[in-house]
Amino acid sequence: MSQARITLWPALPKARIHPNLYGHFAEHLGRCVYEGIWTGRESRVAHQDGLRVDVLAALKHLRVPVLRWPGGCFADDYHWKQGIGKARPVTANLWWQQAEPNEFGTDEFMRFCRAVGCAPYLVCNVGSGTPREAREWLEYCNFGGDSTLSRARADHGAREPYEVKYWGVGNENWGCGGRFRAADYAKEYVRFASYLKAFDPAIELIACGAHFGDYRDAGQNAWNHDFCQEMPHPDLIDHLALHRYFKRGKGVHFTDGEFQALFADVLALERDLERTDAVLRYFYPDKQVGIALDEWGMWHPEAIVENGLEQSHTLRDALLAGAVLNCLNRWAHRVSMANLAQTINVLQCLAVTNGGKMFLTPTYHVFEMMRPHMGGTLLTQSVECPAYEAHPVGFASKQAVPALSVSASRQGGKILLSIVNQTLNDDLEVAIRLSEAKIAAVAGRVLEASGPREHNTFKNPKAVEPKRVKAEAVKGGLVHVFPRHSLTALTLTIE
Ligand code: AHR
Repeated sequence: MSQARITLWPALPKARIHPNLYGHFAEHLGRCVYEGIWTGRESRVAHQDGLRVDVLAALKHLRVPVLRWPGGCFADDYHWKQGIGKARPVTANLWWQQAEPNEFGTDEFMRFCRAVGCAPYLVCNVGSGTPREAREWLEYCNFGGDSTLSRARADHGAREPYEVKYWGVGNENWGCGGRFRAADYAKEYVRFASYLKAFDPAIELIACGAHFGDYRDAGQNAWNHDFCQEMPHPDLIDHLALHRYFKRGKGVHFTDGEFQALFADVLALERDLERTDAVLRYFYPDKQVGIALDEWGMWHPEAIVENGLEQSHTLRDALLAGAVLNCLNRWAHRVSMANLAQTINVLQCLAVTNGGKMFLTPTYHVFEMMRPHMGGTLLTQSVECPAYEAHPVGFASKQAVPALSVSASRQGGKILLSIVNQTLNDDLEVAIRLSEAKIAAVAGRVLEASGPREHNTFKNPKAVEPKRVKAEAVKGGLVHVFPRHSLTALTLTIE
């Protein structure tokens, strides 16, 4: 068995981990919103005024902090006025080739967010919309005075403003959001942002940044650079959005090599963050503009438009989620938000529904196990562990990939230590200690299975589920075996 060593410094706090790093994303795509969230008021599936109650309860339990909506590509062809009031047209969903009944609109989304307890994040239509349409959406949502739009909101059941804080100015505007060049998008951005910020200076705006997802996109830090250069108004930007999807072999039938290479791709995400951070520091030296990774997750080849981007849900996907969340925690000084794509039924979702039935994916359990990092203070850490060689996407050569992905945060007298063993065959015995403090007690859970291809289905909904671990502190330290291809979350009580 290989050995490793981890030291944590409880007295050397780094940044606060913003709870929004544990956010999600729901688009009008396939069965995410319709069926996954909204059953309609006539449904035989248990619902609360049209909102699916099992899904509501699952997301509430997770303490989802923020939910991005209505897209995705859908956002830049969405006209919000079609989704309020009584007479709602049925429109064509351009990108995802389905009918859009507009039954789930702004007021239904706000009700859903309130029931879950999360903050809404709305993405405005830049590609086919106007600054006026976006500004009026803001007025409808946030205006506390008397206007035709705020009266309409009251007529639709919400006398008090929704106080939506997060507003995205378009989505992937280098692609489905209008195929802009960066400099042209920057000009549009200034127009939209000027009117939005003037109307409500308390809101936070998210600009569209690069997608570094594969070799083709490797040069796209140019988008971030050119956008920031042409948008010299730090007062108009609060977050720059990045997207990254992970693609390594089939959902269940991936090769061992693809398993190993997947975790190398987290190094590519780290490089996206480094490059974006450098651009933001250069162009906005006096403002802390956050990085919002507002779409991320596994995208398997089986998830295609024809099946509403549905795919399988293995332990491997969940471990990737754990490794990404560890990476984002370690970047808490710059990453301000992240949104896994896409909540229910679509891509790397938290739960899958079928009629009145629902199962939780292994990824759901990761978010639940790592939940105590939300709002915690990231700790300084040192990790000495074996590494293997693999070729991250977009890199020119192989890199050393650490066997363990680690992050640790503190809230009061408790530390949450989350560890992914990213190897296929190596159980790792790890000596853990705190610098200038002692571990008084340990509790924790592990997500593991006989193989990384194990997955949850309606037939076997609990194939991958967390189990309690046995661990005991000895003389203020801890030696624990982290099994191959597993995620462990340990709560350490500080003496
Ligand atoms: O999440 C699916 C799609 O992926 C989104 O609509 C788009 O923003 C991205 O390309």
